[in-house]
Amino acid sequence: MIIAIPRETVPGERRIALVAESVKRLVGKKHEVVIERGAGSGAECSDEELQAAGARIEPSVEALYSGADLLLKIQPPDAAEVERLKPDSVLVSLAYPLAQPGLAREVAKRRVTLLAVDMIPRTTLAQMMDVLSSQATIAGYRAVLLAAEALPKLFPMLMTAAGTIPPAKVLVLGAGVAGLQAIATARRLGAVVEAYDVRRVVKEQVESLGARFVNIDIEDAAGAGGYAKELGEEAKKRQAEVLAAHVAKSDVVITTAQVPGRRAPLLLPADMVRRMKSGSVVVDIAAEQGGNCELTRAGERVRTETGVTIIGEKNLPSQLSVHASAMYSRNMEKLLAHVTDKDGALVLDVADEIVKGMLITRGGEVVHPAVADVAMREG
Ligand code: NAI
Repeated sequence: MIIAIPRETVPGERRIALVAESVKRLVGKKHEVVIERGAGSGAECSDEELQAAGARIEPSVEALYSGADLLLKIQPPDAAEVERLKPDSVLVSLAYPLAQPGLAREVAKRRVTLLAVDMIPRTTLAQMMDVLSSQATIAGYRAVLLAAEALPKLFPMLMTAAGTIPPAKVLVLGAGVAGLQAIATARRLGAVVEAYDVRRVVKEQVESLGARFVNIDIEDAAGAGGYAKELGEEAKKRQAEVLAAHVAKSDVVITTAQVPGRRAPLLLPADMVRRMKSGSVVVDIAAEQGGNCELTRAGERVRTETGVTIIGEKNLPSQLSVHASAMYSRNMEKLLAHVTDKDGALVLDVADEIVKGMLITRGGEVVHPAVADVAMREG
């Protein structure tokens, strides 16, 4: 199979979908790997290194697309990239088909099979292919570093001849993949950390990382696959009452709450932010999903009139492009191993739970029932 890796074209995207060590292993499995010239430059992956691992470097993007059996990338393709897709080839990338069914329709029109990596189910078996988790791990870590950099205070407690400095107080809202990594990172920097999640099952994980779990006496909102369900109105009110006090005394609030298929839950309304101390920092990882904080502007860093910095930067994994690429690449290797036979040919068995979850288009049709449903409703 010819696996082609184009250069990512979204502004600011520094990652590459396959790194040299994966190239080497895939070539060892008799695949041909073709990579667009310069595709790895943002992730410190030179053409020479990729070539040495067995890839062919292709200077022409048109030739890359037209020669591909399987195109592997990170960001969903834009209109120009969709135009380039070769009929009857396979596209493996993020696609957010439930939020953007139009893209799935366009890809189907080109008779391209789309495997959306953001639709990989969160199961034990699929864990090694789960790019949302691998990239969220990086985002959680990065969020804390951004907060530490923006906070005009130290994170650790210091006892020095110049006096004793108290540790920073960090509150993490949402203790899923990104949140747990944020907790671990803030603890390593010496902060005192509190965390809250609507799924009570994470309490133990939070505590094992050395943070305090904020208990709120509302219903447990654990949903399927390690995700949360949306809270009822009463529960939301109670949550806001309790969180307000914790938010007000925190130096840093990192928000990571999400409910699949919904706008990110609003956890920090403007009046809660107004009660924070001047100089405090909010990092809203859910900025692109609508934000957990009312004052977040996706892609921006704002300072409120009361002196609170709110960071809504997008694409945090790209800021750590070397390891983000390495993890994405490893996920892709596992995924390719799952959907190919011993001769390296693609086998998409729809009875397989992972394939069923991520197979969006095939044979000119949108074949994923939920995506087809949304696509039809949106006309
Ligand atoms: P996750 O699903 O593992 O974690 C989200 C957590 O939020 C869950 O534990 C859930 O129970 C919790 N939650 C839901 N509603 C809540 C509420 N009302 N109050 C408190 N907690 C609540 O998701 P993951 O993978 O950790 O991602 C978190 C967010 O970060 C997502 O919005 C994701 O899209 C975003 N993300 C952003 C990146 C960036 O560059 N800015 C990169 C990677 C992920």
